[in-house]
Amino acid sequence: MSAVPSARHSDPAVFGRVAVLMGGTSAEREVSLDSGRNVLEALRARGIDAHAVDGIPALIEALVGKRFDRVFNILHGNRGGGEDGVLQGALEALGVPYTGSGVLGSALTMDKIRTKQVWLSEGLPTPKFVRIGRGDPGSSPGQAIRDAVRELGFPVFVKPSSEGSSVGVFRILAEDDLAAAEAFAATYAGELLMEQMVQGEEFTVGIFGDIALPSIRIVPAGEWYDYHAKYVADDTQYLCPGLDGDDEAAIRDLALRAFRAAACSGWGRVDVMRDRRLGFQLIEVNTAPGMTSHSLVPKAARQLGIDFEALCWRILETTLVEAALPREDAAR
Ligand SMILES: Nc1ncnc2c1ncn2[C@@H]1O[C@H](COP(=O)(O)OP(=O)(O)O)[C@@H](O)[C@H]1O
Ligand SMILES: [Mg+2]
Repeated sequence: MSAVPSARHSDPAVFGRVAVLMGGTSAEREVSLDSGRNVLEALRARGIDAHAVDGIPALIEALVGKRFDRVFNILHGNRGGGEDGVLQGALEALGVPYTGSGVLGSALTMDKIRTKQVWLSEGLPTPKFVRIGRGDPGSSPGQAIRDAVRELGFPVFVKPSSEGSSVGVFRILAEDDLAAAEAFAATYAGELLMEQMVQGEEFTVGIFGDIALPSIRIVPAGEWYDYHAKYVADDTQYLCPGLDGDDEAAIRDLALRAFRAAACSGWGRVDVMRDRRLGFQLIEVNTAPGMTSHSLVPKAARQLGIDFEALCWRILETTLVEAALPREDAAR
């Protein structure tokens, strides 16, 4: 595994004027504001000329007036919410460097189904699934869900393919649980992902530059894998590193390969589970993960001795395009 790269610069002036893009209009606005305020504070504490910008329209307006040199994107969410490639496309068009994945990686990983298709094509493990399309001829969403259950067997998860927040995620253990998912499907306009439920532990792996950070094991207080326990209750434990020895090396290697296969770069977080029978299974990638006081990427970075301020600084460093020099020169 690669060593942790040290910071390349020490002068805050190299970054110029930085927009910390936060808030926006997605369902994850409040989390994003929390993350954004932390990032802003950290960058300013290191002497960087950083400023808060709330949402994409305000950013574009400021950029047209050439008021920023680069963007630290900490918006969370889809539909122009900042994590789905739309913002990245606009910034590419304006020639403004930004943190996180580019257009392709951002757009691809916002779509869980197509991310899984890419992983499978590279031989990377992800739970078996069925895509429930919209307007597929000859089948209502309810019928499609029942057909998929026949193919996948119980238990399964049903979730929207392209929602960033946890909206519309159903765990279906048996026939009785189908009605709620069918009712949701009848009103939901997007594609649904139905996948076999992983029975085992849940992990997440932060990615930072070219390295995978130590894994974090997410342990809900209840004995059973209760999804709500993880999001609603506050007694979930986060263990870092989540594994040891060869297992830890394997999960980090898998997460990094999954991140790269999905055309992601810069930084992000890969969710992985470990099925008792099948071993590691990739769940999803987040390209602008949380940076709140409870967030997991900062927790994993701390394990490597990288504090929050240093983490923000180094994520911002990924926006500095090094001159295309021959290798010998670049190493100087
Ligand atoms: N196939 C699965 N098997 C078991 N648990 C799952 C599965 N898919 C999702 N989950 C649970 O649901 C949570 C949310 O699913 P995820 O795909 O990460 O969507 P979100 O975008 O809402 O984070 C996961 O963190 C995990 O606890
Ligand atoms: Mg997730």
